[in-house]
This record gives sequence, C-alpha cells and structure tokens, in this order.
Amino acid sequence: MSLQSIRKALTQRFARAVREHIRSRTWLQAEAGGNAGLPPLWIHPTRPLLPPLPSVAQLLQTPDEEQSRSGALDLSPYFEETAQGEVLRKLSQDEIEQFVKADHYPLPAPEDREGYYGDQHVQYWISGLGDYVLLRALLWEQHVKLSAPFSLLDLGCASGRVLRHFATHESGLQVYGADINRTNVMWMNAHLPRVIQCFQNTILPSLPFGDNTLNFVYGCSVFTHIDDYESAWLLEIRRVLKPGGFAFLTIHSERTWKDMQEDHFLYKYFLNTPHVIEDLGITQMTPELFARDMPADRVVLTHTGYAINNTNVFHTVAYIRENWGRFFKICKIIPKAHGGHQDGVLLLKE
Ligand SMILES: C[S@@+](CC[C@H](N)C(=O)[O-])C[C@H]1O[C@@H](n2cnc3c(N)ncnc32)[C@H](O)[C@@H]1O
Repeated sequence: MSLQSIRKALTQRFARAVREHIRSRTWLQAEAGGNAGLPPLWIHPTRPLLPPLPSVAQLLQTPDEEQSRSGALDLSPYFEETAQGEVLRKLSQDEIEQFVKADHYPLPAPEDREGYYGDQHVQYWISGLGDYVLLRALLWEQHVKLSAPFSLLDLGCASGRVLRHFATHESGLQVYGADINRTNVMWMNAHLPRVIQCFQNTILPSLPFGDNTLNFVYGCSVFTHIDDYESAWLLEIRRVLKPGGFAFLTIHSERTWKDMQEDHFLYKYFLNTPHVIEDLGITQMTPELFARDMPADRVVLTHTGYAINNTNVFHTVAYIRENWGRFFKICKIIPKAHGGHQDGVLLLKE
C-alpha cells in the first residue's frame, strides 16, 4: 500500500467518523427539542470538480484579452488600491513576466475558487500573486528568509489562490495547505504542484503537526468567518509555530465597518440577505446600524438562510490587541491587506 493510499484511507475514515458524530449530534438536538446548545460541528458537503481553466499565460494569449491585443504584457491595470497593489507596483516588468511564465498550472473555475473575482480570471491570479509578494515582503521586513528549511501553512487555502505562488516561485520550502472544504482540497491535489501537501481539516481547532514545527502560518479571509473556537484556533496556530515563527491573519476591522456605506459590496450583501447579530439581539440589518460605529468590539453577522459556513466576523483593532495579544506579539496591522475590505494582522510567537 502506498503512502498516498494509506493517507486517503485515513482521511476517509476520519471524515466518516466526523459524519457519524454529526448524525448523532443532530439526533441529540432533536431529542432536546431543537438546538441543544452544543457548539456546532459540521463538515462541508463535497461535490465534483468543474473542468479547470487554462493557465494565466495561456489566458493572456487568447485573442479577447486586452494584453495580447496591445502586444505587451501590462498587468498594471489589474493592480488594486490595496497593500498588494502597492507591492505589485514595485515589481519590474521582467519579474512579472517570470511569475507568469513559471505558473503553468490551470486556474480554478469561479465555482471552484470560492467565487473570487467572478469571471475576471487574470485578476484572480494577480490577486494571489499580490498576497504572495506582500507576505514575502512582510517576512523579509522581519529578517525571515524564505529558504530551506522553511515550512508554511495556508490555513483555509481554498483552491490555492495564494499558495500556488509560494509553490511555483519559491524552492525548497515545505508547503502545506488546509481547508475544511474537501472539494477545495481535491482541486489542489488534482491541479497544483505536488510540492503542496494539502489536507482537509475540521472546524475544531486541530492541526496534524507537532509542537513548534512550522515557520509561518497564514489565513487570508478565514478568521473573518470563524465564529466558534476563535481563541482555540489562535492557540492551535501558536502550538504548531516554532518560537520566532510568524502568523498573518486578515480581519474585517472598524475601518471595514466604516467603509460599508451604500455602494460597498458588503453593505449591499448584508442589507439584501437575511442576517442577524445573535449576541446583541439584532434581528434586522438596517442602514442605521451601518451608519453608526461597530456595536461591539467583536461582531458576528450570521446569515440565517444557511446552516453552515454562514458567518462574517468583525473585530476592532483594540479587540485584537487585547485578545489576540494574549497569545502572540502583535507586530503590525496592515490596512487593506485582502482586497480593500480586510486588514492584515502580523503576529509573532515569542
Ligand atoms: C473566503 S475563503 C478564502 C480563501 C483563501 N484563503 C483565499 O484567500 O483565497 C475562506 C476559506 O476558508 C475556509 N475555512 C473556513 N473556516 C476554516 C477553518 N476553520 N479551517 C480551515 N479552513 C477554513 C473555507 O472553506 C474557505 O475555503
């Protein structure tokens, strides 16, 4: 039996055990006449993968792409007004061309990439490149070299928007990806370089690494959706990081809350879909709510139309400093570090 088939068998067995557990919990809840007050435990339903899209280099050669019509590879129109845009602007034309050439792997269809950037496939690729270049710059700033032995984990990697760049533009790194959604893990294993070791984790904070093993853990737009077990996740990340290791996690902050005015996509989303803020007893999203300051230091908006994967979490920077600061040294808060709407927190395990 190969290592791969043993791993597959173990993953399947674990998934079966979790499914069993969920079934028994549902029964428990029914017994108790509804929500038994237990913390939620769920796994993501799996579905078949869609056919992948061509690589970014191939996309840029197609006749309907602006790039090829002009004859030059100018990706600057894709740079956004974000922390990523800032670092991308500093790259030379040569560097950008090298990045495009090196990544000859297919891109996921929008449905297989958490909907990121709709049909703007080049924009999707550039956004991941921007995150990679930004994270690399943040590590360099801290005098961290991205060379062997160096191990990193993309927690909530989806189908590798960011991780594909670490895997194709760096060598000698140990590159891990984890996601609660098995479809994402399937996509990674089917289409991205084998250097990426990807696995499905559960919403319960547990990572299959020993203590003090990783140099870097990052989660882009993941703690913005973790309602339960936030502190336990932070402690789990701290456990697996080496002393002196860094974590980078993005948040919706009070800046995001303030920016959420009429034409903001999140404002439209919250006002046009059924949401509640359970902790504060708020059952309706209104313009007045978003016209005021954040109503608490940590606010969880829950979409009542979905049973799982249904929360958006907002944190004030004061909350991060007070609560996350118990587990890590807060090195830096970076505005607009995930699109324009999330900020990044760079954390150090001392
Ligand atoms: C908004 S998407 C961001 C995807 C990716 N990080 C990116 O920046 O393109 C959130 C991802 O986090 C995953 N996720 C949510 N909670 C998680 C958890 N506790 N552990 C691992 N993955 C999680 C979701 O399945 C989803 O793929």
